Amino acid sequence: MLFRQLFEPISSTYTYLLGCEETGQAILIDPVLPTWPRDLAAIAELGLKLVYTLDTHIHADHITAALTLKRESGSRIAHPAIDALPCIDVPVQEGTPLAVGGLRIDPLFTPGHTDGHHAYRLGDRVLTGDALLIDGCGRTDFQNGDAPALYHSVRETLFSLPDGTLVYPAHDYEGRQVSSIGQEKARNPRLGGDRSLADFVALMSALDLAYPTFIDYAVPGNRECGVCPTDVPEDLQQYCRQMRDSRQG
Ligand SMILES: [Fe+2]
Repeated sequence: MLFRQLFEPISSTYTYLLGCEETGQAILIDPVLPTWPRDLAAIAELGLKLVYTLDTHIHADHITAALTLKRESGSRIAHPAIDALPCIDVPVQEGTPLAVGGLRIDPLFTPGHTDGHHAYRLGDRVLTGDALLIDGCGRTDFQNGDAPALYHSVRETLFSLPDGTLVYPAHDYEGRQVSSIGQEKARNPRLGGDRSLADFVALMSALDLAYPTFIDYAVPGNRECGVCPTDVPEDLQQYCRQMRDSRQG
């Protein structure tokens, strides 16, 4: 398997590129709108063809590149069936693996951050989306978020994977790239150790987080699989504009 972890700095999102070396088929998980040219270039450089995009959930902090990548490369839009978006080409759900050439991706229903959130397991790796972050977890105060549901998703579904499973989150705000199930079980300050459900719910409700900057544009845009709304104000246009090549030599 070819595997790349690609970073989008505006929303601190990790996009994952997975490629099957035998068939040349590739998938992008959680691609972000401004970085679609970079992601397609990475796929071309590896000699691969993009066949699917796949999101872990309806994002509130960025717009998915799914629709743009479909237009530019002919990829098909895979997304959790439970979100029932009309723009989905390939609905995914737990129990039905998605094949990308010889790769097998197992969706794991992990609600709590949103009500439709899925993590994706690939053998000894798991892409945990916003359910489980390194030393953290996604917020539960929007998009039908539900702290008890997140507690169960992480502790019963994700923490039941083997301890050596590598954890690749959808975001990190401090440059951390990878963890493991064993490490998060032992050390995650929100959900690890012997954290009780009641303690976790109290902790999440006490976070008092700021209203998400881009949510009012991102959620409707992502319900259309990645359309930038026309009323995005100038100071938020960076979420919609294609990122310029930042290499300067
Ligand atoms: Fe999210």
